[in-house]
Amino acid sequence: MKIVVAGTGYVGLVTGACLSEVGHSVTCVDIDEKKIQKMKQGISPIYEPGLGELLKKNNDNGKLNFTTDYKNAYKDADLVFIGVGTPEREDGSANLDYVFNVCKQISDNIEKDCLVVVKSTVPIGTNDKVEEFLRENLKNNDIHVEVASNPEFLAQGTAVIDTLYAKRIVIGVESEKAENIMKEIYKPYNQPIVVTNRRSAEMIKYASNDFLALKISFINEIANFCEMVGADIEDVAKGMSFDPRIGDKFLKAGIGYGGSCFPKDTKALHWLANDNGYELKTIKATIEVNQNQKYKLFRAAKQRVGSLKGLKVAVLGLTFKPGTDDLREAPSIPNVRRLLDEGAEVVAYDPVGEDNFKRIYPNIKYVETPEETLEGAHMAFIFTEWDEIKKISPTQYIELMNNPILFDGRNCYKINDMRNFGIDYYSVGRKAVLNLKNKSNKEVAATIM
Ligand code: UGA
Repeated sequence: MKIVVAGTGYVGLVTGACLSEVGHSVTCVDIDEKKIQKMKQGISPIYEPGLGELLKKNNDNGKLNFTTDYKNAYKDADLVFIGVGTPEREDGSANLDYVFNVCKQISDNIEKDCLVVVKSTVPIGTNDKVEEFLRENLKNNDIHVEVASNPEFLAQGTAVIDTLYAKRIVIGVESEKAENIMKEIYKPYNQPIVVTNRRSAEMIKYASNDFLALKISFINEIANFCEMVGADIEDVAKGMSFDPRIGDKFLKAGIGYGGSCFPKDTKALHWLANDNGYELKTIKATIEVNQNQKYKLFRAAKQRVGSLKGLKVAVLGLTFKPGTDDLREAPSIPNVRRLLDEGAEVVAYDPVGEDNFKRIYPNIKYVETPEETLEGAHMAFIFTEWDEIKKISPTQYIELMNNPILFDGRNCYKINDMRNFGIDYYSVGRKAVLNLKNKSNKEVAATIM
């Protein structure tokens, strides 16, 4: 079967590469010729461990092809996977323009029966509309086109492994024929397959992402409350995690979730429910808690020092999570904005996110190592828990900083380790460690010696 994948972002490219890895013949379509040339050489346009190797290997052995010539690609495709973006509109709803642009190209060009598989995250009911659109716009009415929903569950940074060793494959179909084709395609993966109708498959995607986002907002609220009553969120989460009904995943408190999915998908589902006359109260709360959580440590810093004007602030970590160069909805972005608005001098470090951050903030100082960030700083913020950042020892903060006050938005350190050093340490869901606060400058200097 000839498989064509539309879109070479996270979803499209990883889908195409992994389908070719298990033996299928795949053509990935993109409009950008330069990007196509790079992918042919095994250079991934996105930072994703293992993806470059898959591109190179399967391009070399002829299983994976890249083209800008969508007309020829769609003409004789048996299956077209749509993996283009569905960004957020201003009102929170999903923008489906890219999906329907691809549909138009498909209906204009296909010359044989085709199964169109929607991998993009789309509002419930979209697959029905896609099928209707394709059928209405077909140039040749003798052709049978059908649509299947096949949501994606990969996470950035682990996308290849998440796909090749997925926990489940969800297939939403309206006919036995489509079900059989999809099962055949996924046979080599040897993973559990859940077959539903298309609307349920679309809902499974949103419900899964929104549940994970809700879990994070829940643990963040409990963390905030822990600080008030003298409990420790790390211990609380650990204690909860042994209950298999709760589990140990997505219970890490911090300064909120970011990325291209949770923020967008919570708002999209909330919007869609509202549009249907129903208020999803848990999702509304999830969004509100996350919005507030982002600035938690900025507020603590303001409260601690009053004015940030003229202070040198070290920013450690820029991406929305480790393992990616993606900055979408990263808590670092609005926090740096606030720091700059307050008149702080920001010095930033991130092992891979620097170039992208420079496009948003070209005028702040960027350095190559975490240590350089800390030199002479009056306070430091951790926004992403990169290994390079977790490796900084408490003594390094004392040795390098002008004033060792650390605001750790990802709870990178054990609280007891921080108690034994002359450092002030604010984290999430744990009582602040204040070694310096009530000491004179002389005493502070003595702890630094
Ligand atoms: C998420 C889902 O995990 C994937 O299953 C899904 O396929 C994907 O969205 C998508 O819809 O495409 P992703 O956005 O790549 O994947 O990243 P996650 O690892 O889920 O992290 C999202 C955010 O939650 C990050 O900012 C992370 O720091 C935060 N997070 C995660 C926490 O604050 N606490 C946790 O315990 C876990």
